[in-house]
Amino acid sequence: MKIAVIQGPNLNMLGIREQHIYGPMSLEQIHDQMKTSAEQNGVELEFFQSNLEGEIVDRIQESLGTVDGILINPAAFSHTSIAIKDALSAVNLPTVEVHISNIYKREEFRQKSITAAASTGVITGFGPFGYHLGLISLSQIVSEMKAVENAQTEASQNG
Ligand code: DQA
Repeated sequence: MKIAVIQGPNLNMLGIREQHIYGPMSLEQIHDQMKTSAEQNGVELEFFQSNLEGEIVDRIQESLGTVDGILINPAAFSHTSIAIKDALSAVNLPTVEVHISNIYKREEFRQKSITAAASTGVITGFGPFGYHLGLISLSQIVSEMKAVENAQTEASQNG
């Protein structure tokens, strides 16, 4: 199973930016931890971070046919980007949106996620551990989908 991990703007600044909100871990440290737990569960991860909306749209489009699911923190674009929401809807892959902070506890402009409407589920407010929770949830969803697909293929082969 392959999962694309897509990180939005300013997440490359984790560990430096607003530590009282996002904590001390860098993005690299978060990704290293995810890699370790993914390997233990036979999951392959492809990491991508960009500060540019169009690059994120491109990366989502490239996910079609190359990965089984998307774990995404669109960061500030969550609250503004119809283009990212549309790209997620277009590829229609199992998707989990993660936010490190609890967006519902913050400024009003962060309390709505446009992109969340295109995701299977959202994890918000658990700090970097949210990525781990997201990975577990997404792996489970993808495994269940694959099991259903296999059962359907088998049933059609058996006439
Ligand atoms: C964030 C929340 C967003 O509002 C913010 O713009 C971010 C990070 C989070 O992970 O908590 O950059 O997505």
